[in-house]
Order: sequence, then structure tokens, then C-alpha cells
Amino acid sequence: MTTVTTSADELRRRMVEQLIHDGALRSREWRAAFEAVPRELFVPSFTTRTASEPVTYREGDPGYLEAVYANSSLNTQYDEHGTATSSSSQPAMMALMVEALAPASDTLPVLDLGTGPGYNAALLSHRYGSQRVVTRDVDPALVATAADHLAAAGYAPTLTVGDGAEGCPEHAPYGALIATYGIGRIPDAWRVQVARGGNIVANIGNGLISLTLGDHGLATGRFLPTIAAFMTARATPGNAPAPARTYAGKLANADGDMHEIELPVALDEEMPRFLGALSQPDVVELSLIVEERKVYGLVHPDSESWARITPRGDGTARLDRGGPRDLWTERAPLLRGWNKAGKPSADAYSLTVHPDGRHELTLGDARRWALPA
Ligand SMILES: C[S@@+](CC[C@H](N)C(=O)[O-])C[C@H]1O[C@@H](n2cnc3c(N)ncnc32)[C@H](O)[C@@H]1O
Repeated sequence: MTTVTTSADELRRRMVEQLIHDGALRSREWRAAFEAVPRELFVPSFTTRTASEPVTYREGDPGYLEAVYANSSLNTQYDEHGTATSSSSQPAMMALMVEALAPASDTLPVLDLGTGPGYNAALLSHRYGSQRVVTRDVDPALVATAADHLAAAGYAPTLTVGDGAEGCPEHAPYGALIATYGIGRIPDAWRVQVARGGNIVANIGNGLISLTLGDHGLATGRFLPTIAAFMTARATPGNAPAPARTYAGKLANADGDMHEIELPVALDEEMPRFLGALSQPDVVELSLIVEERKVYGLVHPDSESWARITPRGDGTARLDRGGPRDLWTERAPLLRGWNKAGKPSADAYSLTVHPDGRHELTLGDARRWALPA
């Protein structure tokens, strides 16, 4: 039997064609970057999901190169609880995000937050030149490994270690900033360090936002149409947020007040999750089966507030809740507004971050919601 192997160059060419076909890659410049950077140099070993099972690949394993170029996120590090703490993000998401970058000038550096294995830093270095790229990760071990990967690929951006919430003041101002880990609110430092006219491209909640800097740190922009959630921010390397499943048992059995509610929307749709995460960045959302019924859960771990919503299928639901915060009542107005507006997609919404850090969500000209801090 003959085994046909496909070269990395050919697999990369096919991935690029797919990204173009899917509309993720649009410009000549970014196409050239994706064609030039060998992803395999950044992920010598990783775990990925093929069908339902996670599979670990190492360089040289059968199927390794095919998995590298499968347009999937590739997990490269886990903590002691089995939570993934770093990955090479899905190429389609990276393409959408880098295509949205619009630096304020041709000379200012671009800040890449969440270096991970360094693939995105390599793409940026190809596009803008290594001397214009500053990349930062909270985890020193990841930055050291990324430096080796980048050197092997022929790129030498500036690598730094620290919490991206502080930006990277040493090399500011930046023409643009991209962050490939999930956040709940735009840190003040980002607006301070990006030059007027430049932009911030980031994953906030379950959305991707491109915010253009105006005067005095005012930042405004629309969400991209794609729903996406990256790994969430860690303030220190040993501090990954607990995954949602951690709360499942407690939520399923919790005893509290019982209420009857009208459900403005089906809670398992993408947009209710997108809006819910924006209105409650500190709340964990999960779905589970309790006594053979699908149930939605909201948990605010700090105040031990929780809500368990059991839909009846007729637009009503039973709400059980406990703790000082009424998590359902907090999120319901945004969901009603979305329903009333005819269920638009994420790119119908804009975000404004005011000079004092207040976040405001808008839909069209008339609907505005102040998002809590
Ligand atoms: C999904 S990975 C980034 C992928 C990467 N940009 C790539 O090239 O594919 C997310 C990274 O963000 C990092 N991270 C998480 N919280 C951070 C923080 N507060 N500041 C800087 N980096 C952070 C993680 O250590 C992880 O490496």
C-alpha cells in the first residue's frame, strides 16, 4: 500500500484558499502573511478535537501536519485542573481579527497581547516588519518558547512578559492593538496607549470588536458579525478562571426562591449568549440537563448569586434563584431589546468606551444600554 503525504506548503496553500473562500482572509497583504508563515514551527505538539475526542499530536506523528493546517485552535498548555491555558488560535479567527486592524500610522508599533505559541506575532511581523511588533503574554514560560519559535521562523518582534490589562507602556504609543484572549471590559491602559485614529481589535465576551480611538481616549466601533470566545484572561500565570462545568452540580441542586417568568428569546441561541456576556462579564453561563429537562444556569461566583431557568417550551419558564444579585432580571432588558429589534446579528451593535471607562452598547440610533463596570 502506498501512503500519499502532502507537504506542509501544499497544506498551507489549501488552508489559505479555504480562509479566502470563507471570507476570513480578504486582503493581499494578509494573504501573503498566512502563505509565508509555517504554522508547524509554532506548534511542535498540541491537543485538538477531531470529531468529539481530544487527540494529541507531536511533530512527526501520522496526521500531524494535516491537524496543524485544519483551521482549528490547537491547545498547547493545560493547568493542573485540565483547563487549557494557551493555544494557537483558530486561523479563521486570527484572519478576521488581523484583517480588522487599522493602524494609525506606518511607523508606530502594533501591540499583540496574548503571545501564546507566537504564530499571530509572526503573522504581524511578516505584515508590518518585526521591528514594529511588540508581543506580550502573562506567562514567562510561554514567552520564552514563543521567542524560539519566532526565531526559527525568522522573525524577531519585541517579546515582553506581563498582564496585558496594563498594555505595554514601555513601547507605547501603538498604532493598533490586538488581543487574542477574552476580556469582559476594555482596560483603560489600551485606550491610553493606542494613538488617536488607530484601533483596538479584541474578543470581548462572545464578540469580536474593532474600536477606533478618537479624542481624549474615546473609543467606538462595531462588533464583527462573528461570534467567538477565546481563552479568558489570566491576571497571573497560575490563575486561570474555573471552567463553567465547575458550577454544574451546585446549580442543579441549589434551593432558592421560585418565580414565573416570560422568556423573551430562546436562551440557547448565540445572540442571547453574546448579549448576556456583555451585560454580565463576571457571570458564568452554563446549560445542563436536570431531571431530563434542559436548564440554563447563571452563576456569579464572588457573591454566590445564581439563577436556574427551566423553559417550558411555551415562552414561559420557571426561575429559581438565590444570592444578593438577581441575575436574570439584570440581563433580561438586553434580550427584550434584541427580540423587539427583530433579532439582529452581532454587527448591528456598536460599543462606545467613554474617556472615563464607561462602556455603552448601542443598536441603531435609538437604543442604548449602559453596561455595568
Ligand atoms: C488563545 S492564546 C493566544 C494565541 C496566540 N496569539 C496565537 O498566536 O495563536 C491566549 C494567550 O493569552 C495569554 N493570556 C491570558 N491572559 C493574559 C493576560 N492577562 N495578559 C497577557 N496574556 C494573557 C495566555 O497565556 C495565552 O497564551
